[in-house]
Amino acid sequence: MRIIVKENNDLILLALNDERVDKGDYLIVDDKSNKKLLIQMYDELYLNSESVIDDMIKDEVIRFSSVENNIDPLNVNDISRMIRDARLLKCKIRGGIINGMFYPSVTYLPSRVDSVIRKVSVNELNDILKRNGMLPIVIGSTKDDKHLTIYAEDLDGRLNVITGKKESGKSHLAKILVKSLVEHGAYVIVFDLNNEYTGLGWDRDGKASNINDKVIVLEAGKDLRFTINYIGKAAVSSMLIYALDMPAASMREFSRIWDTLENSSSLTFAMLNRAIGTWNINELIRDAMLSRLHTITSSRLFTDDEEKSIKFEDIIRSHNDGAAIIIGMGRVSPVVRRMTVEIILSKIVELLECNKIPPIFLFAEEAHLYLRDTYWEDIITRMRHFGIFTTFITNQPDAIDDCIYRQVDNIFLFNFTSDADLERISKISLVDTDTVRSIVKTLAQRECFVIGKVVNDLPIVIKSAASQTLTFGETKKFFKMKAKIRL
Ligand SMILES: Nc1ncnc2c1ncn2[C@@H]1O[C@H](COP(=O)(O)OP(=O)(O)OP(=O)(O)O)[C@@H](O)[C@H]1O
Ligand SMILES: [Mg+2]
Repeated sequence: MRIIVKENNDLILLALNDERVDKGDYLIVDDKSNKKLLIQMYDELYLNSESVIDDMIKDEVIRFSSVENNIDPLNVNDISRMIRDARLLKCKIRGGIINGMFYPSVTYLPSRVDSVIRKVSVNELNDILKRNGMLPIVIGSTKDDKHLTIYAEDLDGRLNVITGKKESGKSHLAKILVKSLVEHGAYVIVFDLNNEYTGLGWDRDGKASNINDKVIVLEAGKDLRFTINYIGKAAVSSMLIYALDMPAASMREFSRIWDTLENSSSLTFAMLNRAIGTWNINELIRDAMLSRLHTITSSRLFTDDEEKSIKFEDIIRSHNDGAAIIIGMGRVSPVVRRMTVEIILSKIVELLECNKIPPIFLFAEEAHLYLRDTYWEDIITRMRHFGIFTTFITNQPDAIDDCIYRQVDNIFLFNFTSDADLERISKISLVDTDTVRSIVKTLAQRECFVIGKVVNDLPIVIKSAASQTLTFGETKKFFKMKAKIRL
């Protein structure tokens, strides 16, 4: 391989056919000085000079019109074939290595004549970057079959996005991350829309997994129930305002009723119901409150029975070595989903504010379906500050707010083929647009382009690891079901 051109941050290399380099591979340009360049190949094309094309046309015409065997004693054909098959490799300069130390920004032009260019394995890359950590997570393997290890520390305090088209393997990777974080003793809350994270407690062969006793599955309205006393006025109010659109006038009366009941130590769901029915108020306001109360009652999220209600701090206290709290929302209506998320997030922030629980990793599947708009900014500022570290998982990259993309620390990108989606994700600030567009378009299923802090800002293509855990949440198929059920 030879350097042909340098344009801005791009190096264009000439490679012959037997020099195999794949998109996403790292290369080192070494011109035998004390400096080396680390570059990443992101696209390849044919050598399109006019003379090569002219030659090819002439050759084709001769081959088509001549019937004799060409005699080629000087092997000119071979050389000409090599020229025609030569490729130009477009590479991005990712940094420089000076006296063994890696520097992300370099202004150095290596020799075009003396440079030797060679591929770098992920292990060598790890050595160059001196990557290490205490809490490893193997998320997959690279093209050269080396494990790619990231470190849980690099997810700590960070904002992450996992995105890709349908069935590309996003939830699978999210499950690997959740499982490993819990193995390392972290507390994780998952908003599970397909009730598929339940499988984390079980291995493929049906035996209990190594985190079985740390997986707590709470289905909204079934196991996930609270007393209103525990949830408190602030969280119930934000649920009424944001999830149930309660008008301001009704909110004021509601607040008065709540305070009165609280002062007389009789704050229960049943008493709240009774008070709203009998309170001396405008009938329209009463109606507004009663209709919301009806929705709350049918959601079964609240109970007056302490035994049947849960407290997050109790769950965390009884699992002192990490836990995955799976909030199953697969069987509830969109409004109950929004109510559930509203009360959980408000409550968790309150618990974190008064240091009653340790920081939490939050995995939110298709968050745009239940997170209100103002939460996006909240998540990257206030909540992150208190200790909620979010990972968004979605197949609609345009559903995630712009402010998230600007602040994101790690992105796990699976395949996208739609140009609109590619356009959206290529705007992320962590890596250049050319690389994202070119690499993401050609990723195979289960391949993922990892960008951000977890890979020290040197993006890498990996194949996500097969997982030991039981998988749920696969799309139901009509013909498969028909074989099982007699219609
Ligand atoms: N690395 C892998 N090894 C084995 N199976 C995998 C791997 N990655 C994904 N799968 C399987 O492929 C299927 C689709 O994966 P997954 O559910 O993670 O996709 P998804 O991107 O979350 O899809 P959706 O957009 O529908 O939520 C699942 O059955 C999953 O178990
Ligand atoms: Mg999924």
